[in-house]
Amino acid sequence: MTDTGSFARPAPPGCPAPADAVRLAGLEYQRTPAQLYRALRREHGPVAPVLLDGDVPAWLVLGYPEVTYVTRHDELFARDSRRWNQWPNIPPDWPLLPYVGYQPSVLFTEGDEHRRRAGVITLALDGVDQFELGRDCRRIADRLISGFAGSGQAELMGQYAHAVPARAAVQMCGMPLDAADTQRLVDDLRISLDAAEGDDPVAAYGRVGERLARLVKEKRELPGPDVTSRMLLHPAELTDEEVVQDLISVIAAAQQPTANWICNTLRLLLTDERFALGVSGGRLSVAEALNEVLWLATPTQNFIGRWAVRDTQLGGRRIRAGDCLVLGLAAANTDPQIWPEGHVGAENCAHLSFSNGEHRCPYPAPLLADVMARTAVETLLDRLPDLVLAVEPDELTWRPSIWMRGLTALPVEFTPVVQ
Ligand code: HEM
Repeated sequence: MTDTGSFARPAPPGCPAPADAVRLAGLEYQRTPAQLYRALRREHGPVAPVLLDGDVPAWLVLGYPEVTYVTRHDELFARDSRRWNQWPNIPPDWPLLPYVGYQPSVLFTEGDEHRRRAGVITLALDGVDQFELGRDCRRIADRLISGFAGSGQAELMGQYAHAVPARAAVQMCGMPLDAADTQRLVDDLRISLDAAEGDDPVAAYGRVGERLARLVKEKRELPGPDVTSRMLLHPAELTDEEVVQDLISVIAAAQQPTANWICNTLRLLLTDERFALGVSGGRLSVAEALNEVLWLATPTQNFIGRWAVRDTQLGGRRIRAGDCLVLGLAAANTDPQIWPEGHVGAENCAHLSFSNGEHRCPYPAPLLADVMARTAVETLLDRLPDLVLAVEPDELTWRPSIWMRGLTALPVEFTPVVQ
């Protein structure tokens, strides 16, 4: 048995993928994806043939130089998924369709059109006052904590980590924090991005679109100091439909990865003894924990993706026009080529967690995400200084997803605080 053993079953006979292609779906050892990436790299090199759900072939780009190359060469590896040569094999209920199916948003645009759309988002996000955002996040975090502080226990993923960036993002876009339909929008966002059993994500996504279309209309009539108004007033003159599409992209892109960044950082702080002391003033700071998570447990582990514009080569592989490439961001961050001594993680920010190149997470967004995540973590530790895990560290479970790295739950306990 190889290192990839039970989780990496090879492609079935008759499959158009190379015979050694590895099935990504249903990987059993979410606990240590670093092991998977190391094994895949050893067996297949920096670009591995993989099978997505339904045995659809793609390439997983594992090497730091290769991910950097792909993301920096959009003339070779482009973002419009309609280029895919596998569409004839994709059923209408394919589970990855929500991420891969073309939508007329900034995410799938290329060239000048992408520069136009991303330029509007960049400028609109650049207008966010980081101190004000920090104050808003503190207020949001305080309210959430007050909701569970008296009970002495909480499940931080559901009750805290998801809610802080969701509320901060919709408020940043101009929805008043206290309005009843703001909470409805936040709930619908959660359902559409992360449906629980019994939820209807399609209906929730529809309601998100309708509410944001109304927001755009309201801001056309009465602009304010918010991201939506700045997008509408930008000289590029985006249509209302374009602004709605891109607002959905901004809010969704802000919510999920930032929530997992918060939760993965809290996990590290509560389980690693270098930080356990640090919570109340030990060796390593919250900022260092946030950065270490981006190197070692990055929220967007794998991102789908890019599509080859023409036949080319990458990492010794022949890539055909229209092939799909998955950006292995977590694998690239732990690439032994950049960590020859084996020690991964550093004070610097040269990780690829925000990707790279033309389509990378747009410049001010990582800074805003940092404000949200840092404020969420620091406020929690300020308010509940004796916070500890309510279960053993090895009882925490990771979500069975190869895309997002995040916990299913983070149960904690603390001395109840009488308000
Ligand atoms: C305030 C919070 C955030 C906002 C507003 C935001 C916004 C965005 C937007 C609009 C895009 C699409 C860019 C494009 O296609 O041109 C994007 C892409 C992306 N973001 Fe963020 N983001 C946020 C937080 C994060 C966090 C916390 C992470 C991970 C640690 C992250 C990782 C990414 C990645 C990997 C991409 C894909 C880039 C690619 O296609 O190469 N983002 N983000």
